Amino acid sequence: MAVQSIDGYITFHDGLGTASWASREDAEHFRATMATCDCSVFGSATYDVDRVPITSSIASQRLRVVLTRRPEAYAEDAVPGALEFSDAPPAEVIAGLVERGYERCALLGGGRVNTLFLAADLVDELVITLEPRIFGAGTRLVDGPCDLAWELVLDQALNESTRLLRYRRAARR
Ligand SMILES: NC(=O)c1ccc[n+]([C@@H]2O[C@H](COP(=O)([O-])OP(=O)(O)OC[C@H]3O[C@@H](n4cnc5c(N)ncnc54)[C@H](OP(=O)(O)O)[C@@H]3O)[C@@H](O)[C@H]2O)c1
Repeated sequence: MAVQSIDGYITFHDGLGTASWASREDAEHFRATMATCDCSVFGSATYDVDRVPITSSIASQRLRVVLTRRPEAYAEDAVPGALEFSDAPPAEVIAGLVERGYERCALLGGGRVNTLFLAADLVDELVITLEPRIFGAGTRLVDGPCDLAWELVLDQALNESTRLLRYRRAARR
């Protein structure tokens, strides 16, 4: 799940969070969609940007897994079952979540972690908010080559200029 500019960037020039440029309607959609998930996965660079809101909203009913090659660097922030740091490959992360009974995981970026999961074909659904902005530079939704086909299952207006696009993975070729 991501919010992006028309030209495919998920960050504005400041590299900070989306609050300065994503719409209120996207924030509402994000909260509503997250309420349907029991866990999420994202990269350490995303965690570093959003550390304060994340650590101040620890909830054991929704596990957050941060991917990092340096879990020890984040040991002080870890709360087992709520905020965990993992250096496992994506397929192992997902297998571990399934084994623990988690059913619906939101992949929350950023571009590098999205690429790891997409390259391993571990994503069932894309939920993309398209904001009416062009940035010309920044972090891309996906930052490496991959070739996966998708079927559009929802194209909804969130406001007069913001669209919500939902795709599911097309049958494997
Ligand atoms: N618009 C949106 O919807 C949205 C969503 C999410 C994020 N963002 C933005 O995206 C930006 C971050 O994106 P990003 O692409 O730079 O970073 P990212 O994907 O969030 O995290 C990348 C980091 O993950 C760690 N990592 C773990 N396993 C790895 C592996 N196998 N290979 C490589 N790295 C691995 C590395 O840090 P270690 O050194 O810790 O290993 C790497 O630097 C932030 O500005 C954030 O605000 C936007």
